Amino acid sequence: MLNNTIIVTGGAGFIGANFVLDWVNADLGTVVNLDKLTYAGNLENLVDIQDNPHHIFIRGDIGNRALLAKLLAEYKPRAVINFAAESHVDRSIHGPEDFIQTNVVGTFHLLEEVRSYWNSLVAANPAEKENPQFRFLHVSTDEVYGTLSATDPAFTETTSYAPNSPYSATKAASDHLVRAYHHTYGLPVLTTNCSNNYGPYHFPEKLIPLCLLNALAGKPLPIYGDGQQIRDWLFVKDHCSAIRRVLEAGKLGETYNVGGWNEKANLDVINILCQILNELQPRSDGKRYEEQITFVKDRPGHDRRYAIDATKLERELSWKPAETFETGIRKTVEWYLNNQAWVHNVTTGEYRNWVNQNYAGRTA
Ligand code: NAD
Ligand code: DAU
Repeated sequence: MLNNTIIVTGGAGFIGANFVLDWVNADLGTVVNLDKLTYAGNLENLVDIQDNPHHIFIRGDIGNRALLAKLLAEYKPRAVINFAAESHVDRSIHGPEDFIQTNVVGTFHLLEEVRSYWNSLVAANPAEKENPQFRFLHVSTDEVYGTLSATDPAFTETTSYAPNSPYSATKAASDHLVRAYHHTYGLPVLTTNCSNNYGPYHFPEKLIPLCLLNALAGKPLPIYGDGQQIRDWLFVKDHCSAIRRVLEAGKLGETYNVGGWNEKANLDVINILCQILNELQPRSDGKRYEEQITFVKDRPGHDRRYAIDATKLERELSWKPAETFETGIRKTVEWYLNNQAWVHNVTTGEYRNWVNQNYAGRTA
């Protein structure tokens, strides 16, 4: 009998931390949170649950097979949810190697250990093979589908993969491995492909938090190229609710697109952000934040448009996002304005000092 524990990888990052906070605060069971704490992992995202016995944090790499085997045997999870990844497209352009290591090789090692764990469940209970209770849920991205023209229909689950950046190529590779482990070994897997997230705890290398914090600091708001590239924005809590729903009711071996029907050009996103800041925290010189917008050289290979068709998730699993872009972006701006200590520690790098001090010699 499986217990009510889940293992989450990458749960100290932006989406993973939101997911773990929601899960533990809703009392859904114990979370074992395995995270390497790269530059993107921040334990300050999890301070609200640091004393909660239903959150067990383990610093470690998804590529560490011995550690994975130990955690799976010890905690006997009913599910493993894989958020861990190198996630920033620009970083993948400057240095793809970490992306290959974590997103491809790391996911492979994770799959191998999860397969071995699942085989042990089947050996103990043959009914687990025909009617699996265990789940491996892989969190992926819409970027695997490549780019759209202005008139193309939105990505569906049957759109061909055509990744264009080293980041999206490694995510596509990991998606294919997950698919193959289901097809070949029968591993009970689910995959979600989500559009661009935004919300609390978003690391300020990504467009929205970068521009938000630059605006408040009086710095330029860098817009790549003409700013007319389109992304499809989803509030992070809605992504988390979709993952919970797919985990609960998704059909094994299937993929689910996750999105909120919120296509917007980058320049429009930043103009909306500026309008909210003008209202909530006006510049001391009386000028408008829009004046800080600065067009800069474009990202190499920049995908022009992403758009998610989330019909399958809505129709088959009755999922709907709770936020529109307008409500979600306002909540996001308010969160950053109300969490200045988090912002300070992230922008100064102070959170890394704390991690180094706290975890020196404690790596699993
Ligand atoms: P993030 O960069 O904020 O967090 C990634 C986390 O993974 C960090 O805590 C990091 O320390 C950890 N990590 C990295 N390498 C690891 C390793 N080898 N072993 C263990 N932990 C490791 O990323 P995010 O934006 O929260 O994205 C989470 C997942 O969701 C990723 O798989 C990403 O591809 C996917 N995704 C992100 C978005 C988005 O808009 N941010 C949209 C769709 C899908
Ligand atoms: O679509 C889902 C993906 O969304 C996730 O898989 C990725 O992990 C996540 O990082 C995100 O990728 P993007 O490249 O779309 O996000 P980013 O915030 O880096 O950029 C959003 C858009 O804004 C993109 O068109 C590039 C542009 N941009 C970005 C930055 C950092 C700028 O114009 N200026 C910037 O300074």
